[in-house]
Amino acid sequence: MVKRAGGFVLALASRAPGAQARRWLYGALRAAILQGQLRPGARLPSTRELAAQYGLSRGTVVAAFAQLASEGYLDGTRGSGTYVAATLPDDLQRVAAPVGASAVPPPVRRLSSYGRTVSGFRMFGTPPRAFRPNTPALDQFPTALWAQIAGRLLRRASTKLLLGCDPRGYPPLRAAIADYLATSRGVGCHPDQVIVVSGVQEALDVVVRLVVEPGDTVAMEEPGYAGARRLFEVAGARVIDAHVDDDGLQLPRSRGRVRLIYTTPAHQCPLGVALSLPRRLALLAWARRTGALVFEDDYDSEFRYAGRPLPALQGLDRGGQVVFASSFSKALFPSLRLGYLVVPADLVDRFSAARSLTSRHPPILEQMIACEFIAEGHFGRHLRRMRQLYAERLAVLIDSAQRQLAGLLEISPIEAGLHTLGWLGRGITGEAAAAAAAARGVDVVPLARFYRGAPPRDGLQLGFAPVGPRDIRRGVDELARALEPLAGRRARLG
Ligand SMILES: Cc1ncc(COP(=O)(O)O)c(C=O)c1O
Repeated sequence: MVKRAGGFVLALASRAPGAQARRWLYGALRAAILQGQLRPGARLPSTRELAAQYGLSRGTVVAAFAQLASEGYLDGTRGSGTYVAATLPDDLQRVAAPVGASAVPPPVRRLSSYGRTVSGFRMFGTPPRAFRPNTPALDQFPTALWAQIAGRLLRRASTKLLLGCDPRGYPPLRAAIADYLATSRGVGCHPDQVIVVSGVQEALDVVVRLVVEPGDTVAMEEPGYAGARRLFEVAGARVIDAHVDDDGLQLPRSRGRVRLIYTTPAHQCPLGVALSLPRRLALLAWARRTGALVFEDDYDSEFRYAGRPLPALQGLDRGGQVVFASSFSKALFPSLRLGYLVVPADLVDRFSAARSLTSRHPPILEQMIACEFIAEGHFGRHLRRMRQLYAERLAVLIDSAQRQLAGLLEISPIEAGLHTLGWLGRGITGEAAAAAAAARGVDVVPLARFYRGAPPRDGLQLGFAPVGPRDIRRGVDELARALEPLAGRRARLG
């Protein structure tokens, strides 16, 4: 039996002046049942509650209930309360319409240019499977430890925990992030410059609000992260390409002024190259010369399997031209929705003001748990354990792909991150490969989706982190079965 969630106030249609109380209550409850506001099986408030809420005598409510029960709308009052009849008479059900449904067409709405152009960004909502990109090994996350910390914090929580905090985030977490970034990423900052947000996506949103006007030029890696490009476009920016080669992004060619340039220097999304030192220096010099702000998305920097970790671009910046952003989505887990910005000192107040007008700050409890997790050394240990695990999973993928996908998909060597690329052979297209793979329970993303123009080569993005060796091998098996029938099809058709 569907029960009404306890204790909510039942909002009934208002009573016309002069309307008789019992008749009004009967009609309003009947309408609520017929329109689906009170669903079959839902529990009604008690006669005492309804009487008090609407200033009626209890006798009036009892009489209205009795009439509705006699007509089959209500199941007679039982010991535990009064319920809407589980099955309404057929003829009544036919006229019932869901709440909010109406014969009146929706009004003509005037939306902002953002409202007219915004469109959702596809996200996977189903359990992880091979080879879903951007997904860590969630089954390996120490949830028991996380729960222990949460329990401890809640048990000793003061009323402060229930209040809000600084719009820049929970101060001890900001200090812990500044420490971690100084040690692991070469980021130079004071905790005052750290702003806690819900992830890199929100970091992009707040930066765009602060520096981009409709019509402004924003430069974006090509190929690049579609979630950033989409956000720039709906903000009304003119998006220009900064092409990526083996040394990372090249400076954009623009006659006008570039307000903002987006880059993933540690591990370019999706190609996986690192921005070389000469290119880093050239980018910073150009930004200083032109006044452009550099958005450094420190994508996938935590997981490096070969070579030296490259310190952040922010650490080389002497002119306050870089906004650095990263998140715990992959280092911990995506639903945590915690990330951070490091902003130039002169912009701290602007960022703080913008945060106070939007989501204010992420939930404090989550910020406190993350803070303890870092301070007690669990974060460092978790990263080290995951780095080793991911290196093993990558090796399994490379090994099984070499044996089973030869000629169909050539896996590209990578040094960091949670995904690699596979180059398609024998005329197979990325979209056809992704559709055939999905039909066999395997996720791959066509590389073409990261390009605005035509990709020079057809390929796939493959995540190797979310599932273990057995599922990786099974995934390669399925992928081979999916690709084989596509091989040479285009050539034959041509
Ligand atoms: C390159 C890149 N940057 C940023 C994000 C946004 O991540 P989040 O908002 O979870 O930090 C994603 C998400 O997949 C991404 O691929």
